[in-house]
Amino acid sequence: MPTKDSITVRDNRTGREYEIPIENGAIHASALRNIKTSEDDFGLMSYDPAFMNTASCKSKITFIDGEKGILRYRGYPIEELAEKCKYLEVAYLLIWGELPSESEYKEWVHNITYHTMVHENIKKFMDGFHHDAHPMGMLVSTIAALSTFYPDAKNIFDEGSRKLQIHRLIAKIPTLAAFAYRHSQGRAYIYPSNDLNYTENFLSMMYRPSWTTKFEPNQTLAKALDVLFILHADHEQNCSTNAMRSVGSSHVDPYSAAAAAAAALYGPLHGGANEQVLRMLEEIGTKEKIPEIIRQVKEGRRLLMGFGHRVYKNYDPRAKIIKKVAQEVFEVTGRNPMLDIALELEKIALSDDYFIKRKLYPNIDFYSGIIYQAMGFPVEIFPVLFAIPRMSGWLAQWQESLTDPEQKIARPRQIYIGYGERHVPPR
Ligand code: ACO
Repeated sequence: MPTKDSITVRDNRTGREYEIPIENGAIHASALRNIKTSEDDFGLMSYDPAFMNTASCKSKITFIDGEKGILRYRGYPIEELAEKCKYLEVAYLLIWGELPSESEYKEWVHNITYHTMVHENIKKFMDGFHHDAHPMGMLVSTIAALSTFYPDAKNIFDEGSRKLQIHRLIAKIPTLAAFAYRHSQGRAYIYPSNDLNYTENFLSMMYRPSWTTKFEPNQTLAKALDVLFILHADHEQNCSTNAMRSVGSSHVDPYSAAAAAAAALYGPLHGGANEQVLRMLEEIGTKEKIPEIIRQVKEGRRLLMGFGHRVYKNYDPRAKIIKKVAQEVFEVTGRNPMLDIALELEKIALSDDYFIKRKLYPNIDFYSGIIYQAMGFPVEIFPVLFAIPRMSGWLAQWQESLTDPEQKIARPRQIYIGYGERHVPPR
């Protein structure tokens, strides 16, 4: 008699039945391999392009209920973390599993602060980029270049070494990001300041004039950026995190794996979307043009950037928090005129059948770009602003996958549909 937590599959080719156990609401894909038509048959595979319904890992880090619009890091609702915590506390939570005690937090902040500096040769490396190089391209390359500066990072199964690389990567990514921006502006690089907190220091490296050592970042803007960093820190198995885990599964050093993750984030369907949202809003320009854009979207001629999500089929909870942050930022910077176009676009889209039927709601990127622009960040830097906090999520997921005994090198199967054997014609 089959046990309750299983399915029975009947193979109509052979008439045979198979019982497959269900664990955590899933069946093990390898169990399908027992389903064969003959001894030398390879066995049944599951076909799932883009991993629409395939879990690649078990994880304790981030929980999402896309239907209900719920996001939690290590069990804590994103709304509480955004309201009560600092980004570096959340980074600690993601990586080590618990919120830090006071002394743990002090030590963590100290370690991050004292690793923000980069080797002088990194500056020379950056200088080699063309003046109009995209800052995200520069960031991806310099993260990869760090692996050549820290050959000890290859010791990925040494806990102490892993910890050191985690400190280095979280500490140095704002420095690399700011250097990439300053390079694209033709401005001198600003070194990190150990007396500023994580986001203040980043704003200082971005905006401090090179002729002064004094810079007092606006506290409201630094706090708003900190909240945005919390919202972007992790999002379970998204495209870039999957890249981090997949590349990391070859046991390469974390700098190389993080460079691959950052490269995945660069794409316009992922972390590049906030840049595309702003370009779209700029193209729309006035509310009167919105119906025409909606028409083009419905005719399948373009996507409404910042709308839709693989997992959320409800309002993205991060987009709700971001709308509140926007008000605080605009009190300092003045209202970004793009907001009115975005709000109107959202209103029209959410009442349109096309979007209702497909459960398309604004995602985090729909509003983040408008805030970033009001804060003075140019659009090219938007994906870079996403990469800075996502580093903590990538590292948490990387460490979890390395210490998971069920994980192996990631290597999907394929269904070959090309030619059978053929031969080169005589010549
Ligand atoms: N505008 C218009 N139509 C859309 C959009 C959109 N933004 N997103 C999805 N659709 C439509 C699709 O055309 C499809 O329609 P169909 O059923 O008639 O063919 C349907 O909705 C389902 O969409 P899929 O493409 O199957 O959804 P998928 O899960 O593969 O894609 C994605 C998710 C990539 C985010 C998609 O919604 C998209 O391209 N959005 C715009 C880019 C964007 O904002 N990316 C940021 C994602 S969040 C993040 O990475 C931080």
